[in-house]
Amino acid sequence: MAQVLHGRGPVTGTAAKTPRKRRPFLLDLYSTAVGKKYAMAITGIALMGFVLFHMIGNLKMYFGAADLDSYAEFLKKLLYPLAPKGAVLWLLRGGLIVMAAIHIHAAVSLTRLNRTARPVRYQSERDYQVANFASRSMRWTGVTVFLFLGWHLLDLTFGVTNTIGADGEFIRANVYDNVVRSLDRWPVAAFYILANISLGIHLFHGAWSLFQSMGWNNPRFNKWRQAFATGFATVVVVGNVSFPIAVLAGVVGG
Ligand code: HEM
Repeated sequence: MAQVLHGRGPVTGTAAKTPRKRRPFLLDLYSTAVGKKYAMAITGIALMGFVLFHMIGNLKMYFGAADLDSYAEFLKKLLYPLAPKGAVLWLLRGGLIVMAAIHIHAAVSLTRLNRTARPVRYQSERDYQVANFASRSMRWTGVTVFLFLGWHLLDLTFGVTNTIGADGEFIRANVYDNVVRSLDRWPVAAFYILANISLGIHLFHGAWSLFQSMGWNNPRFNKWRQAFATGFATVVVVGNVSFPIAVLAGVVGG
């Protein structure tokens, strides 16, 4: 009756512990395990879009310094003069930060929920191992990518770990020179390669399981899901790993 008088009732799901107050629908949905899975899938798709376009943009380094530097300048001038310089880029960055924050929050709270929902291990050893391998590798590859991102921003955006220019200064607009100077250090190049392989494993599992989270898991499409997940992860990893190798080999910056 209360539901008839007040519209919808609260979303029910595995996270409900105590009788809950009415909240905005999306927050209510997010408090359930299903809602968190949707959130992971949707933010995951946005982050996949970012890594793909970032890799494609970085391919400009194969055409030389002028091309890569002017591409970075082009990003700053998106919709200029309609919008002030840098405004659209900052909007996109804001979106990216929000997506990453929700993705990480949902991942951490889903792990907690799963632990409370299943304090006893799976009875079948085989199922237990499969489920555990997938989730454990997602956690570790996710943490590796997150740590990589910290280094990456310090290195190529803020120049904290990349200040060995001709005059000892980091000039942000000289993107090509910054990339070459950074990846010419083999330990850094090796870290980039390892981190991007981790990213590939994360993308593969993520691209595969997002269909499950969205409820698009008809076994008839499994072949396509597998092909999509493999293809997507391979394209991003091959592109990204090629950059440190190209710099070390002198193909870029040589
Ligand atoms: C070898 C692979 C990569 C190269 C060569 C590369 C290159 C760059 C460069 C040059 C910048 C600075 C651009 C500028 O300040 O104009 C940058 C920024 C950034 N990169 Fe990467 N990147 C790589 C991989 C990645 C990966 C795998 C991620 C995410 C997991 C990532 C996330 C970012 C982010 C979030 C920024 C800041 C963007 C902004 O401030 O607008 N990058 N990258």
